[in-house]
Amino acid sequence: MKLFAIRHGQTDWNVAGRMQGCTDIELNETGLAQAEAAAQTIGGHGISLIISSPLSRARKTAEILNRVLNCPIIVDDALRERGFGIYEGMLISEIRGMVKMDPEYFDKPGSPDSRSVEPMEALQERVSRLLDDIRVRYPDETVLLVTHGGTMRAISSYFRGDKASAEAVAGNCQLTEFDFDDIPQTEKKENTMTLKELVIKSRSCRAYDESYRMTEQDLRELIELARFAPTSGNQQALKFYISWEKDEVDAIAKCTHWGKDKPYPGINPSAFVLIIQDTEIDRREWSWWREAGIAAQTILLGAAEKGLNGLMIGSYDNGPLRELVGLKENHKLLLVLAIGKGTESAVVEDLQPGDEKSVYRDENGVTHVKKRTLDELILKRA
Ligand SMILES: Cc1cc2nc3c(=O)[nH]c(=O)nc-3n(C[C@H](O)[C@H](O)[C@H](O)COP(=O)(O)O)c2cc1C
Repeated sequence: MKLFAIRHGQTDWNVAGRMQGCTDIELNETGLAQAEAAAQTIGGHGISLIISSPLSRARKTAEILNRVLNCPIIVDDALRERGFGIYEGMLISEIRGMVKMDPEYFDKPGSPDSRSVEPMEALQERVSRLLDDIRVRYPDETVLLVTHGGTMRAISSYFRGDKASAEAVAGNCQLTEFDFDDIPQTEKKENTMTLKELVIKSRSCRAYDESYRMTEQDLRELIELARFAPTSGNQQALKFYISWEKDEVDAIAKCTHWGKDKPYPGINPSAFVLIIQDTEIDRREWSWWREAGIAAQTILLGAAEKGLNGLMIGSYDNGPLRELVGLKENHKLLLVLAIGKGTESAVVEDLQPGDEKSVYRDENGVTHVKKRTLDELILKRA
């Protein structure tokens, strides 16, 4: 299955050598002409769907190409350029004097205000998610991605199966051809993650692609993992209520609290799992919460292994939720899990002394989750 990607036409900031990132700069006259020229040669590839970055330089390029292609255009935020934070608008020559222009460099602690730059890992994650999705959703289409230099690097790295390198940025309106069949190991890569990689990947997610639906069978496979988890005295008093039908999922979502808010329609997960203690089997309250935690993490690691994301939710409207799913008196609701295809990126970083927040979302929409260092966690004899 082939896929094409093209970088947008030229802008005045390209000519001046200014870092654009997510700053919305329009095509200049040359850029418009480059797109017109590309349109003359793009016809023979059988392209049937265009997916474009939301930035106007890409959208305009897509629009001009579509005068020949005549196909649907979808705008997808995953194709926007890497956010370069405080560096946007500065001359690249100026930035070179401040930091090494290695794409990874901005991520390293200590580079000047690296915080404002979208981490490479986050860029790769959003691009990989889109490409995985295209493969599943549009097997019969030949898709053209209209995007940016940094994003093109992440696309190339997905098809090579490695990390984005400092390869030369594609030229304006340069078309590149990829083939999903050249990377048969992608599926394997997902399954050969070490436990540490899975645990790191399994970050709390608070925005999902609602069009991704899960089945009862998908959820049964996840609950099956919890079946093998340990329980005190092997009593196995946990029960699980699974919900995957959209109306019920949306109703459950309304009973839960995410971050400071309720989730809003449009970003709801595909499913919920309610972890419940059957007090007729085990009345000992001290074991409930421990076992719920073990089951929850086991289920969410299973979800991560399937390329899904999740959220443990301890804050919910107990009465309305119990009533909604019809829990009996001996069913004590312990924890709610949201599961689905996440649309937000999260990176884990070390919590540094003086950091005010352990979780924050930056201007690129990336959640930074700060974890205390290992040395801080391991107690020394007093
Ligand atoms: C037992 C438990 C209950 C939680 N309850 C909520 C909740 O009600 N709402 C929410 O948005 N996040 C909830 N979280 C998610 C935490 O806020 C999250 O773990 C934390 O922000 C760190 O992010 P991380 O999971 O990516 O490490 C809960 C996590 C746990 C373990």
